[in-house]
Amino acid sequence: MALIDEIKRRRTFAIISHPDAGKTTLTEKLLLFGGAIHVAGAVKSNKIKKGATSDFMEIERQRGISVATSVMGFEYSGVKINILDTPGHEDFAEDTYRTLTAVDSVIIVIDGAKGVETQTRKLMNVCRMRRTPVMVFINKLDRPCKDPFDLLDEVERELQIKVRPLAFPISSGETFRGVYNIYEHNLSLFLSDERQTADAETVEIDDLSSSELDAYISGKFASQLRENIDLVEGVYDPFDREAYLSGEVAPVFFGSAVNNFGVRELLECFIRIAPSPRPSTTETRRVEPSEPKMTGFVFKIHANMDPNHRDRIAFMKICSGVFERNRNYLHVRSGKQLKFSSPTAFMAEKKSVIDFAYPGDIVGLHDTGTFKIGDTFTEGEKLKFTGIPSFSPELFRYIENADPLKFKQLAKGIDQLMDEGVAQLFTSSLNGRKIIGTVGALQFEVIQYRLEHEYGAMCRWEPISIYKACWIESDNAEQLADFKRRKHTNMAIDKHGRDVFLADTSYALALAQDNFKDIRFHFTSEF
Ligand code: G4P
Repeated sequence: MALIDEIKRRRTFAIISHPDAGKTTLTEKLLLFGGAIHVAGAVKSNKIKKGATSDFMEIERQRGISVATSVMGFEYSGVKINILDTPGHEDFAEDTYRTLTAVDSVIIVIDGAKGVETQTRKLMNVCRMRRTPVMVFINKLDRPCKDPFDLLDEVERELQIKVRPLAFPISSGETFRGVYNIYEHNLSLFLSDERQTADAETVEIDDLSSSELDAYISGKFASQLRENIDLVEGVYDPFDREAYLSGEVAPVFFGSAVNNFGVRELLECFIRIAPSPRPSTTETRRVEPSEPKMTGFVFKIHANMDPNHRDRIAFMKICSGVFERNRNYLHVRSGKQLKFSSPTAFMAEKKSVIDFAYPGDIVGLHDTGTFKIGDTFTEGEKLKFTGIPSFSPELFRYIENADPLKFKQLAKGIDQLMDEGVAQLFTSSLNGRKIIGTVGALQFEVIQYRLEHEYGAMCRWEPISIYKACWIESDNAEQLADFKRRKHTNMAIDKHGRDVFLADTSYALALAQDNFKDIRFHFTSEF
């Protein structure tokens, strides 16, 4: 198949949600449709229920699950679908943000009873920043839910995106009757004894005013549905695919993932309207997927938790050309030519060695500790992909060596964990002490555990009071030097030697921004 056809038939996306909205369940149902798995329950939740490290480690330890389910590829109707998994726990949000840099679109799952929740809001901010096309699936309609119009308004308001329902529910909870698919002009009936993996009965109804509708749903619900659909058509602009592709409008679906209800409709529409791999930006130019030469970047590094194999897997998104096994590629950062004898692809829960991969595909590369997030591979051009940000951390602690004999191991461990993007390291200009910054408290436990189990090093945490770390820059060298001198005690450098201001309080930060107008304070930094 020609490269262009391979590109056109690929859809690489992530499902995001607030924990418990049904992301895992929906992923599993999509895999069932793709025939990638055959029984429900095959996709294990990566949830950390009690918020304890031991849970996280237990889950990570079952490598088969966490590595394999990082990417789930399957074929459906001639389309190659790649679902990128994102950690559910908010302490790992940064991992999710980075995964979002490797997808071409997103499906957001919302619990119909709870509406838009915090984590969804945060993740949507990242999508908005990147103009990622999003689709919304409002889930759990088999439970009593909020009014659908209220939900649509809430999504519009809270996620700051216009919505366009492409399906509409008929009641919810005990009286849930099904969903009218506006996009396909048909009715999916919800049978209360729905088997968990069964597809719904679908009835073609071209004209909602016909009495045929009343034969399937009782009069009250039928007239309500007619009214609601009239209202939808009156209130919302017709669906505009271009507006969806530019991230301005989110099509909305309703269903019940656990009952496999509304999922096929979502998938059918998704493969029709969701984008195939889009161009990627680099520091120097835009890379089109159809360019013949291979380019790609690493967006995630996954440690192997098996102590007998300390290697890691770097996940590379192919941005252009064809990736081939055993072919030399330039690792731009080191300037070295590298080839991979066993690159892996991920099909549902299986991982297998591949010979070729195309734009939109994710390839697992064996890594002995050389790769970093953001690393670029090309056929010789010195490109660097942009838009792989690291976010300003929110929690900080000093990291101290707790075993003087293991100094080297500790340094190596910290170095590699930072390359994986687990947390960020800053060195204080005041006292040279090392500060670890994270987005979630759980990371400190994870780092300590992993340093001990993977590197044989011991660390101890000491408190430090910092409100926020931000990267500073200025074209006014004098003002920058003045700022650094005055704020000496709050200055640090990051792993790449960039200046970072560690503000004690929001007030101190606001004051600094006010007093030093020529300085730019950045809350994200490119890797
Ligand atoms: P997450 O990955 O977004 O965190 O959510 P997950 O799919 O694990 O779903 C969270 C809970 O919600 C699960 O129940 C799941 O069965 C349930 N759920 C998902 N979709 C629906 C739906 O359409 N209707 C209803 N009523 N429930 C749904 P749990 O009790 O936490 O786990 P389990 O023991 O049932 O697996």
